[in-house]
Amino acid sequence: MEISKIKKLVPIIAVLAVFAVTTVIFLFVRNNEVVMEGPQGSIAAGETNSAKWGIVYPVHWDSYQANLGNSENPSHFATKPYMEVIYAGTGFAAEFNEPRGHVYTIEDVRSIDPARQKSGASCFTCKSTQVPETIEKYGDQYYLMTFDEIKDQITEPIGCLDCHDPETMALRISRPALKEALERQGRDLNKITHQEMRSLVCAQCHVTYYFEPGTKKVTFPWDNGVSAREIMTYYDEKGFTEWAHPIAGSNLVKARHAEYETFMGSTHQSAGLACADCHMPYTMSGNTKISSHVWQSPLNNIEQSCTNCHRNGIEWLTNRVETIQTQVKDSQDLAGTAVVEAINELKTARESSGVDQAKLQEAMALHREAQWYLDYVMVTNGYGFHNPTETLNNLNTAIDKAHRAIAKAREARGAKAIDQ
Ligand code: HEC
Ligand code: HEC
Ligand code: HEC
Ligand code: HEC
Repeated sequence: MEISKIKKLVPIIAVLAVFAVTTVIFLFVRNNEVVMEGPQGSIAAGETNSAKWGIVYPVHWDSYQANLGNSENPSHFATKPYMEVIYAGTGFAAEFNEPRGHVYTIEDVRSIDPARQKSGASCFTCKSTQVPETIEKYGDQYYLMTFDEIKDQITEPIGCLDCHDPETMALRISRPALKEALERQGRDLNKITHQEMRSLVCAQCHVTYYFEPGTKKVTFPWDNGVSAREIMTYYDEKGFTEWAHPIAGSNLVKARHAEYETFMGSTHQSAGLACADCHMPYTMSGNTKISSHVWQSPLNNIEQSCTNCHRNGIEWLTNRVETIQTQVKDSQDLAGTAVVEAINELKTARESSGVDQAKLQEAMALHREAQWYLDYVMVTNGYGFHNPTETLNNLNTAIDKAHRAIAKAREARGAKAIDQ
């Protein structure tokens, strides 16, 4: 090439070089600034691996990963020693830990005491993004599979797909049991408000349930309503019993983490709040404002969770929560002690010769109710904060029924009303 031609090309090469350098700098800088949230790629339909969603939503991914910091799960027995007697005959008497972060579900379910694995594949139902596709694959047969049959197939913890549609990011209900329960209540699933969805995504798992006899299908006992009383009536009408207490002989029902049910009808729920308002408040992650994806005690970030509505200050709020929880714990301890006493009285009555069988049955029925009302409170997280009045009302009922069970069991064996 002639020198003159090369000279002519210099400006063009220079322009190209500047363009290339600018492009590199532009891309480099972009990668280092806070990435604007919004679809930056597509997420495969049915993507169960949350890390893949994280590529598209890196700020949300960081927030989600912070759930690793919520790693404490002490045994319930440390603060509620009466639980071991109350749950005799179930796996819960062998091991029962408090919950921790969403990212730990697989680790926790796999390391559970073998006594708890009797419930089979159903144990995984609220633990993994892979559950809906697994239910689709096996149909209702899923619920009849054993723990071991399913355990190697399910490896992802709770994640994005549990609550979001990967295409639109809209909130969605992925669990059949919730859809079916709402449909049985006559709800049109297409007419659910966005604010209600901000609670219903949680109600997929933070609810009480039972295994339908025969099919072992996870079912929500909500046909009469979601209060402890309405659920007790539902079980009585169905003649449903989960287990017979080996010491007392009573036919009992087990409650599970009824956070959603307890919240319904509370001051906050009737004022229009949803779970996400306190548990997923807006928060700054770098320069981006997002709904926090760290599911934890709102007391850890009370400025974000409460003070945008309550101007009374952090100290007042913390005191209110602690006061409510202490009062609930005190009443719960009274109820726990009374139920254990009822169990012991039933044992004595059953071992007595000439016991009045009809009265013994009445005492057992009262124990069934006492156990249910106590359990509904005891295993529900939040120590009554979600609905203080309803919680104390349930504990009053539990204490009353337990004392009546004690009196009836004593009457059944002809003992004096009170030992002095
Ligand atoms: C337990 C349910 C749940 C899970 C799991 C979950 N989200 Fe969300 N997400 C929500 C709720 C509730 C909102 C608030 C939505 C609203 O009010 O519109 C939200 C909002 C969002 C938004 C909208 C912007 C914002 O911050 O409000 C994005 C994007 C998002 N989530 C991404 C993710 C990603 C990515 C994952 C997985 C790493 C994930 N979410 C996991 C419940 C969940
Ligand atoms: C797919 C089921 C599922 C969904 C959906 C779900 N959770 Fe959870 N959640 C769990 C399980 C299971 C645990 C306990 C995990 C463990 O201990 O391994 C848990 C733990 C928690 C904890 C931690 C409790 C503690 O003691 O630290 C909070 C808070 C919580 N969830 C709130 C929510 C909220 C709010 C929503 C809705 C926005 C929600 N969860 C949606 C199943 C779910
Ligand atoms: C008005 C605010 C508020 C709303 C709304 C709310 N919660 Fe809570 N939640 C709390 C407080 C406060 C606690 C007690 C935290 C503690 O004891 O450290 C709590 C505790 C919990 C816990 C146990 C967390 C822990 O670390 O002990 C779970 C799980 C939970 N809530 C789930 C839910 C679900 C599901 C909903 C919706 C049905 C909901 N909450 C609605 C404020 C709220
Ligand atoms: C979106 C607004 C909102 C948020 C967020 C909120 N609250 Fe409330 N709270 C209310 C409303 C509304 C009432 C009803 C009484 C009133 O109007 O002051 C109420 C009532 C209360 C009461 C008295 C009634 C009762 O049930 O005991 C307490 C205590 C309380 N809130 C604590 C909290 C705490 C703690 C948090 C954070 C974990 C919180 N609130 C978050 C709106 C909110």
